[in-house]
Amino acid sequence: MPEPAPGVSDVLQAKPGDRVTIKGWVASKSVVGGLAFLTLRSGAGTIQLTAKRQTLGAERFSRFSQLNVESAISVTGTVREDPRAPFGREVAVEDFYVIADAEPWPVTKSSLRSPSFIWDKRHLTIRGPRSTAIAKIRSTLFKAAFDFFTQRGFVFITAPLLVKNAVEGGATLFEVDYFGDTVFLSQSAQLYEEAAIASLEKVFVIQPAFRAEKSRTPKHLTEFWMIEAEMAFATQEENMALQEELVCFLYNQILKERERELAVLGRKLKPLEPPFPRITYDEAREIAESEGVGFPWGDDLPTQAERAISKRFDRPFFVTGYPLSARSFYHLTSEENPEVTLSADLMAPEGYGEIATGGQRIHDYRLLEERIKKQDLPPESFTWYLELRRYGMPPHAGFGLGVERFLRWVCGVRHIRETTLFPRTPARVTP
Ligand code: 4AD
Ligand code: MG
Repeated sequence: MPEPAPGVSDVLQAKPGDRVTIKGWVASKSVVGGLAFLTLRSGAGTIQLTAKRQTLGAERFSRFSQLNVESAISVTGTVREDPRAPFGREVAVEDFYVIADAEPWPVTKSSLRSPSFIWDKRHLTIRGPRSTAIAKIRSTLFKAAFDFFTQRGFVFITAPLLVKNAVEGGATLFEVDYFGDTVFLSQSAQLYEEAAIASLEKVFVIQPAFRAEKSRTPKHLTEFWMIEAEMAFATQEENMALQEELVCFLYNQILKERERELAVLGRKLKPLEPPFPRITYDEAREIAESEGVGFPWGDDLPTQAERAISKRFDRPFFVTGYPLSARSFYHLTSEENPEVTLSADLMAPEGYGEIATGGQRIHDYRLLEERIKKQDLPPESFTWYLELRRYGMPPHAGFGLGVERFLRWVCGVRHIRETTLFPRTPARVTP
């Protein structure tokens, strides 16, 4: 085997006239007489190759011309300037060898007539430019999230994924047989974060969350990733300020590092700055009403209302003061109105809607015990969570940001399944 070859990025750095060896996959190919044009794809991007029958000889040229797309090859040649080629560079092929031949690509125009085909073949179709661009943006997002929190003194923790408690209601729990006992896949790490803040003060979690939501909507996955944070001694105001900062940081970092990928997606974005506009739940209801999608006080925002409200904004915004009836048991309520929680949803604009939910938690033992009883929750599942309130639990607040929801907005994709390589939806667990 020859030396490991440099990739397309090295070609971009090479000067015209330099000799390079690159490895990659055949993305497309066309042959005109004694001239073959081939686009080679690598992790760093694509580059145009040109091969001449004259240079390679008849037999080698024929092998080169007959390569199927997605074959893996190694090519040696000279870098040339070509204003028409992607990146203004091409490589004139002097030698090549085939590392792994590909069979004829199964994703054809006629196969795409079946709507599920592209998702049945997701293990192959992720090679396309859109999925590649989104995967790179997603990678930048995770790196930026770790940077953001660690720069601010937050400690990264992980929480169990096999749990006994419902955090966000019993209706969306996945059950798992645990040696004859029933446990659930975690909906959120929040309760564990609340335990951890007593020693670490400010923590964050980046891990999967599971929801058995049968609803087949363009914004629901059954397995998704959440970025969660929890702070001791914090109010809901501070919690919202942190979310603004985080969202701006992630967004601006993607703008800076992933310009090319955003362009592939046709997404033109301007830098984002805090603060974000805020409207109350009551104002949100009025907007919904005026758009003909009103709903009763006390309900969570129905999807249509959320979309209509979000379309009125061109930047993220908060909806504050949700009724207790639309929220999970742990929410602290306002002193003025016990029906209203100290919580907010962070909404993406342009109709995308909710990307994060956060709020202040009940830190008082009696209050939480009462709430668990009132909501008919199994007290035995919350023994440890309740006990935290007996040993110095200060006011505290936190939030969870859905990674795929955030990406759906930033990447401007219609369906959330595009934001992850191998999505899990009610209808799909393979590939
Ligand atoms: O709004 P949720 O249910 O809030 C919580 O789980 C809190 N315990 C988080 C916390 O305070 N630590 O979920 C948080 C976010 C949502 O705003 C949304 O972005 C995302 O998680 N999310 C989903 N994303 C994709 N598919 C689903 N089925 C989702 N459910 C929630
Ligand atoms: Mg929510």
